[in-house]
Amino acid sequence: MYFREVPELQKSTVRIKDPERVAGIIRAMKEQGTHKLQVISDFDMTLSRFGCNGRRCPTSHNILDNSRVVSEEGRRQLKDLLHYYYPIEIDPKRTLEEKRPLMVEWWSKAHELLSQQKILKSDIPQIVRESDVMLRDGFDELFNRLHKYNVPLFIFSAGVGDILEEIIRQANVFHPNVNVVSNYMDFDDNGVLRRFKAPLIHTYNKNNSVLRDTEYFQQLSARTSIILLGDSMGDLTMADGVPSVENILKIGFLNDKVEEQRERYLDAYDVVLESDETLDVVNGILRFVLTET
Ligand code: C5P
Ligand code: MG
Repeated sequence: MYFREVPELQKSTVRIKDPERVAGIIRAMKEQGTHKLQVISDFDMTLSRFGCNGRRCPTSHNILDNSRVVSEEGRRQLKDLLHYYYPIEIDPKRTLEEKRPLMVEWWSKAHELLSQQKILKSDIPQIVRESDVMLRDGFDELFNRLHKYNVPLFIFSAGVGDILEEIIRQANVFHPNVNVVSNYMDFDDNGVLRRFKAPLIHTYNKNNSVLRDTEYFQQLSARTSIILLGDSMGDLTMADGVPSVENILKIGFLNDKVEEQRERYLDAYDVVLESDETLDVVNGILRFVLTET
């Protein structure tokens, strides 16, 4: 019956293990009202697209890796790291405990290489403009609706904060209700990249352990309805810092190795979107939840 209320859930990309439960959560969120809602989202491959025109879209790290400010040798080394570690990141046969130290290794090596490239802070707008990055279709509707209804959007990203902020700034959707926690670059007095700031955020520590400003969720403690958006199994813990959760709806984009990962995603996420490059379903749910009846 919730198909009538949120017709987007009928899209062929949508898979739901327990439709009754999902319907119950969405209805409860609507009853609780706009002032109780907050959205917590991953950035890379969740708000940004995974593929476009048959090719992979870049993550915020890849945007730097592939940019003209990185030497050819640096680019090759960064690509080698990606080819070695990315299959480990998404390997369904390895446990998170096994993956964690390897992710720290990947991020540390990549940040080290990038920090040797003399990247200028002032280069970032052009690096982003020249990249192939694309936000998912419907991003403007999502950001603008959350802004209109004063719903806080917390972007929790293991990508590069300076890059992702520039992407949403250039897309004209970096509204005041958006807060970002991510890996930020540390520039010297001449605006040259020296290192990345701590703590290091990788795919599998997106939880309380890296949230220094725990005040953020404390301030929002009355917002007990949560919509969580992610694409990785590591994104499932992003709301762990929320002091009191009454309703949480976890929406997961399943981008890669779809057949292999389907069962795990269906067990972990309430709504799974398979190879869906749009924010249609999220927008449909928000349209229903945030409209006064
Ligand atoms: O979970 P989140 O989307 O924030 O993680 C960032 C993504 O960036 C990971 O999925 C990872 O594959 C990717 N990455 C990358 N290059 C790196 C480190 C991470 O493309 N050096
Ligand atoms: Mg992601």
